[in-house]
Amino acid sequence: MENYKRDRTCGELRAGDAGTVCTLNGWVHRKRDHGGISFINLRDAYGVTQVVVDENAGAELAATAAELHNEYCVAIRGTVRLRPDSMKNPEMPTGDVELLADSMVILNRCPVLPFQIEDETGAKDELRLKYRYLDLRTATMQKRLRLRGEVTFAVREWMREQGFCEIETPTFIRSTPEGARDYLVPSRLYAGKFYALPQSPQLYKQLLMVAGFDKYFQIARCYRDEDSRGDRQPEFTQIDIEMSFVSRDDVLKMTEGLFAHVFKKCLEVNLPAEFPRLSHDEAMETYGTDKPDLRFGMKLQDFSRFTAESGFEAFKQTLAAGGAVKAIVVSKQASLSRKRIEELEAHAKIYGAKGLAWMKVAGTETAPVLEGGIAKFFTARTAELTGILGAAPGDLILIVADKRRTANVSLGAVRSKLAADLGLCAPDDFQFVWIVDFPLFEFNDEEGHWEAAHHLFSYPQEQYHQSMEADPGSVKGDLYDLVLNGCELASGSIRIHDPELQKRVFRIAGLDEAEAVKKFGFLTEAFGYGAPPHGGIAPGLDRLVMLMTGVSSIKEVIAFPKNSFAQSPMDGSPGEVDDSQLAELHLTLRAEP
Ligand code: AMO
Repeated sequence: MENYKRDRTCGELRAGDAGTVCTLNGWVHRKRDHGGISFINLRDAYGVTQVVVDENAGAELAATAAELHNEYCVAIRGTVRLRPDSMKNPEMPTGDVELLADSMVILNRCPVLPFQIEDETGAKDELRLKYRYLDLRTATMQKRLRLRGEVTFAVREWMREQGFCEIETPTFIRSTPEGARDYLVPSRLYAGKFYALPQSPQLYKQLLMVAGFDKYFQIARCYRDEDSRGDRQPEFTQIDIEMSFVSRDDVLKMTEGLFAHVFKKCLEVNLPAEFPRLSHDEAMETYGTDKPDLRFGMKLQDFSRFTAESGFEAFKQTLAAGGAVKAIVVSKQASLSRKRIEELEAHAKIYGAKGLAWMKVAGTETAPVLEGGIAKFFTARTAELTGILGAAPGDLILIVADKRRTANVSLGAVRSKLAADLGLCAPDDFQFVWIVDFPLFEFNDEEGHWEAAHHLFSYPQEQYHQSMEADPGSVKGDLYDLVLNGCELASGSIRIHDPELQKRVFRIAGLDEAEAVKKFGFLTEAFGYGAPPHGGIAPGLDRLVMLMTGVSSIKEVIAFPKNSFAQSPMDGSPGEVDDSQLAELHLTLRAEP
């Protein structure tokens, strides 16, 4: 075979191609031998084609075919022919035809595989990451990463159409606090000095607004040295956006348009023109979390109104101490076993609840009856209670009484667990919700001071400007999160553009003047040069694709992710470096104690 370069791909041959001679290049996906005839499923990026080496093959071709194993990389020339009707495979786009081989070249051999290239490999994550290039050969991983490429393209397409300018910002920056730990890069030229990798392009995008770019975006790499979780990686990608002369609603509207375009283009899913909005307080009261999953109901309801007349002292005491009593109604789960309820109680306790009370609704629509658990204390006005809570016979009522936050958070966690256990979370149901009016400051109990809940540059809402210093805990910021199916997809805010207001926020967050100047002086100085009012947002690209593909970890949509210990089993990073490299960087390693 002289020229073994492909002239067709493994995904394109159809019945109409019968009779043509062509060359395919690809990998041996499967091979079956049937008494002198070999069937080879040849795979490339575009599909799979069946190749036949029959009994008439010459000795050389037969010998080469006999040598093939899975994942050998080969070139095969042959004639396309129709398969007999009984052999057609409607599951394969190329299933009407096969290629009758006349010559074959092995381009590269492959040893015994660490795992089979199959969609459900069953291989452990660590092995998949060590041989990531093999894992990425599976149709599932190919599909996910191709979708990711489509999403990135759709984002660029829409942003450009809306007049946004794509600008790259540096990856070697000054270390500035932004919530997580920085990754540092030692400087060779300046002994003892370090660059930091950006946790996000936050300061730069604000400076681009000062520079007059008006509408900026970037598909930006971000680096954060924090513990890995399913939806977190040390290195991840944001769709970073900033706009000048905008209000909060302008940013939300733009973001809704972006997602409508991406979902329509990449998944053919129509999103609503506007996403619902909840204030942070409402989200906490109704769902017990600022990342509520709206794919299912089971809202947290006020149960304290039934407490006064009941004989249940524990609830009364909680209320007297300023706490809250909250309940959820679990539809049609009155038959849940005691053991399952105890499991849910154990789950609530992880979030600080002292217990999880319960009762079941029996009887009929018109004459409901409460049974089990703490039911006997609440039988006085059963119909009114079930009516207000919206509970019907066959339902289960779960209740937590505690400090307000604990009651909300723990019952919210029970709600999420139940939804997962009961299969209420359809992955192809996309429920977006904006969470707005976040508190601007949070009290850091460990360090004993206020700090920025999001980052230091978010705008305190006008009505709090006078009282900010006196009561930082009450200040709401012009901050917003976009939540999709219980996952925080994006965060953003309207920014402070007044240097004086910025200094006050620094001070409340415990940064004295000298420290603020050292860390952010360049930003406040820039604001002195006519900074426009501005705001922005940053959706996480990895999380977006994770949710679009219905997987539960962003590792599944990143080509070469790190494992849960921030390592890459494939290339062995982080790795040691030579003494000479350390010396050049003016570093010496301290022996670990
Ligand atoms: P924030 O820190 O909330 O805001 O991040 C914005 C979005 O980035 C994604 N994200 C992550 N994805 C994967 N792994 C991580 N470790 C990780 N951390 C964050 C999430 C999150 O919602 N500069 C601000 C944005 C702004 O105010 O404009 C920022 O970075 O999807």
